[in-house]
Amino acid sequence: MESLFENIDSKKRIDELVDLLNKYNEAYYQKNDPLISDYEYDKLYQELIELERKNPDLVRTDSPTHKIGEEPLREFRQIEHKIPLLSLANTYTIAEIEDFVRRCKESLENEEITFTADLKYDGAAITLVYEDFRLKYAATRGNGIIGDDITQNIITIKSIPLVVNKVMYNKTPLKNFEVRGEVYIKESDFLEINRQREEQGEKLFANPRNLASGTIKTLDRKVVAQRPLQVVCYHLYSDKVELSSQFENYQLIKQLGLPASNYVEKCLTLEDVFNYINKWKDKRFELDFQIDGIVVKIDNIKQQEKLGAISKTPRWAIAFKYPPNRKETLLRDITLQVGRTGAVTPVAELEPVFLAGSTISRATLHNYDYIRERDIRIGDIVIVEKGGEVIPKIVAPVVKKRSPDIKPYIFPEFCPCKIKSRLIRSEGEANYYCIEPRCPWQLRRRIEHFVSRDAMNIEGMGEKIIQTLIENNIIFSIVDIYDLTEKRDSLISLENWGEKKVNNLLKAIEKSKNQPFENVLYALGIRFVGKTVAKILCRHFKNIDSLISATKEDISSIYEIGDKIASSIYDFLKNSSNIEIINHLRKIGIKFSVDNDVDNDPTNISDKFAGKTFVFTGELSTMTRTDAAKIVEKLGGRETKSVSKNTSYVVVGENPGSKFQKAKELNITILNEEEFLKLINKSNENYN
Ligand code: IVH
Repeated sequence: MESLFENIDSKKRIDELVDLLNKYNEAYYQKNDPLISDYEYDKLYQELIELERKNPDLVRTDSPTHKIGEEPLREFRQIEHKIPLLSLANTYTIAEIEDFVRRCKESLENEEITFTADLKYDGAAITLVYEDFRLKYAATRGNGIIGDDITQNIITIKSIPLVVNKVMYNKTPLKNFEVRGEVYIKESDFLEINRQREEQGEKLFANPRNLASGTIKTLDRKVVAQRPLQVVCYHLYSDKVELSSQFENYQLIKQLGLPASNYVEKCLTLEDVFNYINKWKDKRFELDFQIDGIVVKIDNIKQQEKLGAISKTPRWAIAFKYPPNRKETLLRDITLQVGRTGAVTPVAELEPVFLAGSTISRATLHNYDYIRERDIRIGDIVIVEKGGEVIPKIVAPVVKKRSPDIKPYIFPEFCPCKIKSRLIRSEGEANYYCIEPRCPWQLRRRIEHFVSRDAMNIEGMGEKIIQTLIENNIIFSIVDIYDLTEKRDSLISLENWGEKKVNNLLKAIEKSKNQPFENVLYALGIRFVGKTVAKILCRHFKNIDSLISATKEDISSIYEIGDKIASSIYDFLKNSSNIEIINHLRKIGIKFSVDNDVDNDPTNISDKFAGKTFVFTGELSTMTRTDAAKIVEKLGGRETKSVSKNTSYVVVGENPGSKFQKAKELNITILNEEEFLKLINKSNENYN
């Protein structure tokens, strides 16, 4: 009886685990948006393997244990791998590595073994097939047997040679071979890309690995080419040449001109392997890329072949994964941060804790839902994790350690500033907002932004000074910065403010009046208007009046500007207090139009096409439509997406769409590519 119950329980749990893991796999591989950490995934996965081992009759056909990774995407050509792309078994303890070595020794009847240890790069696996020294194709792992042909994307990566160096091995040229490697993105590049996306109001990537794997599976090569992809190779196969050592293969990969791992080490003993693992335990945080562990491989290729593989993992290699960088610490308080747009973000104030290379005392809690879903409470001991996400996060409270008097966290009703206005959360918004325009906290952030280097660049006006000026009721708005000259005496009388400091500050304020229009526009702090968007707006509208009188459609018809950004700009300029600020700033001499010398700077823009709009349709043979649009913009014109009676030119390439028809109907000047090239060259000539 007992075993029947056990069987029913196991079936229930297996069903649960299969469904959950399949859901997590889909989120991870197809959507590039992981729902749980690798560690949590591996734990569930191990539990499923164990249950399936004990109950082979309950194994479901759709169990994730049968698959290696994702199903290949449909849009790419499918490629059947000559040799399956295997995965690696994971271990978390030294004892498991010892077991691995014991198993190898047993199978090899106690032959001597040595190892190669390498970092386990956290990216997306690829395989590169070379024939006759030339890259024949590149493919993703896919399901391990069939992958996607991503050659077009891979050849945008500069470090991948299309033709390899001539390398001899045992007197035979290495000309037909397959290399396996990982595509990844550096942490610094990842942060920069996300910074730019935030500026543009786009969704952020979860971590460098998802960005890398998402990128190589992007169908638009141009997007791929813009992303700083890195490649590292760690495995070489050749059926024509008899290779002998894994470590030596890394040197061969380098000689071929392919990027090989720089951190590989030959380990003669198991102790060497442990030393390698220990060395990288903390040192990994100094790297500008993420690793998710160490790979230990039997060095001798003949021995590798003898050991072979079981289902989806080789028996000659194993991964050692470091436990996640987690620590427990006290959540002292939850404070609120008010951004310059009024968005309120809860922040965890932590008992400082050293984690993964730095001391952490604060972490974002994102929004109220994040706190509520995890039931995080002030006074809790919480788990802090620094994982693939780069920025530390609060995983969960340790409920066992919670004292009974700790109450659930309720989001404050009022803004933490002294006005204490009621916070508002609208339908569909994740954040609460402070909508009080006089809120000093918003003001502080707005001023910090306004004076920052890429905006008005008011040197010496740091966070502390801004806070003092606001607290002492000296400034109430951005415009008051320019009235500070009249308040010289009250400034000097402020604690610790000498005459020199005040003079320097006033000088810097005066100097800021020379900042160009694009900096001024950026300084206004319009939501989604970063440096790039500000530049584009200046190029198109030339001055604030034409931007103010533009319709939402006028703004969104600019190539790089989407509806969301356009609405934000439009709404900002419809608000009378914003217009008041603009008018005030304009009166005191701040620039609200592009300088003539900017117009005439040959590296910048010309006005040959000023007021002209271009529509492109069909494939151009000498350049992409985006590049053509850029040239038009450089010459002062504008690209729009649709043909109207106001369109100046329609440029028609191969296989044009309906825009061509429309242009004919509306009698718009139609140019073929050659005519277009002549027109831009003529403009350039005149212009130079
Ligand atoms: S060797 C037969 N070496 O980790 C498998 N793999 O989780 C040989 N990986 O499929 C793999 N860095 O995509 C190897 N230095 C390294 C690696 C590495 C990252 C990836 C690879 C592998 C996966 C397993």
